[in-house]
Amino acid sequence: MANQDVAMVILAAGKGTRLKSALAKVLHPAGGRTLVEHVIRACTPLKPKRVVAVTGHQAEQVSAVAEALGAQTVLQQPQNGTGHAMLVAKKTLGTAKMAVVLPGDAPLIRTETLKALLAAHRDGNAAATILSAVLADPSGYGRIVRKSETQVGAIVEESQLAPEQREINEINSSIYCFTLAKLWPALAKVKPNNRHREIYLTDAIAQLASSGETVRAQVAPDPREVLGCNTRADLAEVDRIFRERKRGALMAAGVTIQLPETVLIDPDVAAGEDCVIEPSVQLLGKTKLGARCKVQTGAVLLDTVLGDDALVGFHTVIKESRLDDGAIAGPFAQLRAGTHLKARAKVGNFVETKKTVIGQGSKVPHLSYIGDTKVGAKTNIGAGTITCNYDGVNKHPTTIGSRVFIGSDSVLVAPVRIGDGAYIAAGSAITENVPADALGLARSRQTNKKGWAAKKRRELASSGHEKPARKKMRKARKPRG
Ligand code: UD1
Ligand code: MG
Repeated sequence: MANQDVAMVILAAGKGTRLKSALAKVLHPAGGRTLVEHVIRACTPLKPKRVVAVTGHQAEQVSAVAEALGAQTVLQQPQNGTGHAMLVAKKTLGTAKMAVVLPGDAPLIRTETLKALLAAHRDGNAAATILSAVLADPSGYGRIVRKSETQVGAIVEESQLAPEQREINEINSSIYCFTLAKLWPALAKVKPNNRHREIYLTDAIAQLASSGETVRAQVAPDPREVLGCNTRADLAEVDRIFRERKRGALMAAGVTIQLPETVLIDPDVAAGEDCVIEPSVQLLGKTKLGARCKVQTGAVLLDTVLGDDALVGFHTVIKESRLDDGAIAGPFAQLRAGTHLKARAKVGNFVETKKTVIGQGSKVPHLSYIGDTKVGAKTNIGAGTITCNYDGVNKHPTTIGSRVFIGSDSVLVAPVRIGDGAYIAAGSAITENVPADALGLARSRQTNKKGWAAKKRRELASSGHEKPARKKMRKARKPRG
């Protein structure tokens, strides 16, 4: 249902002094997205008339993130408090009758909770409805001081609490719904009567209550949803909760995750039924797994797409790549951007690939670098093969056909083409194209010198040049005899 009479205002201008960071608070990431991005994404499904982000610190970067998600932005300069931020946003709210206000640093809020808050505000005929939460440890938050069971009298910030108010564990989440015609006159009366000389939005609550307006508080069903990020420890806790939510969603969709608390999964990651994710795996960015894939311990996948039944071995790192059905990578492989393993292809241990297509059923099992290369089907690339794709200035391509056999420790100096069905002798340095079905042999011929080693040893013995190790052994034996 659309809420065309509602504007949503995200307060995102603060610096976040307590983070001790060069980066503005709302640009810090948690759960795979910046804080402000999470908040905007929670707002948009309500279909409000507009979403407005109030920016200040690093306004340009914050605005770029907000505008990319369809929000409008307004600059608050200087930042004279949360109430001042609302006054700055006033003109931008247009004809909206109500505003849902959210801090940019409480990213765990869910759309359903915002919907419920808005419904409570409409039903309760209130000037303001506060989303509150009951916390075991309310320290650091403003507290809700109730006049009665159903009415709020004030929000008191931690620093201004009277001794008897310290017992209150119902806190202000900083998420509110206001009827704007009531808010503006109340806010106009708020004075910067605090240590920071700021205009607090929380003081508008007391102002409304004392002038006889109805102020209600709706308790959030899950108090973890309103956690604010003021410190690095808060960021870590919020990140942990986001990761837990994501893993929970994937497990509910049929994915096995072993020791789930060790596995890091970004919000846009998808995985098919019966995938198995082993401990200490990271699935990042827009990674997508088909059905029945297995990702083993220590693997890191970024923006990578796996077909069905693919296997990513222990401690394999894959970025911006594709593995088709039944393909295998690792253990201990690095697939850099632009790698494509076609169905049942295999890249094994200590292999690095980049901008490379490995054809159906082809194998690069051990210790190779394959870059800027196209490999056909059913080809075998022996251990230690290197494509020399870089001449110090430019990158050059290598093309290897189907059913090719590359002997171990070969270097293929690009640009070069190896035709279908060709063989390359082990240890070759291939600098010219090899035609289909030919043998490419590019190493010096071996010569064996008969008896050379025995003769050498006799010469050394007669000149008294024995190995020092032998002398030592004799010395060591002496005392025992
Ligand atoms: C605020 C509330 C507190 C509540 C807590 C919940 C006030 C005075 N206090 O405290 O009652 O329990 O949130 O997390 O509101 N901001 C601006 N412009 C400004 C100042 C702040 O846009 O001039 C933004 C910040 O970027 C931030 C949000 O407002 O996203 C809240 O500010 P913050 O400094 O985090 O307030 P808290 O101390 O957490
Ligand atoms: Mg805060």
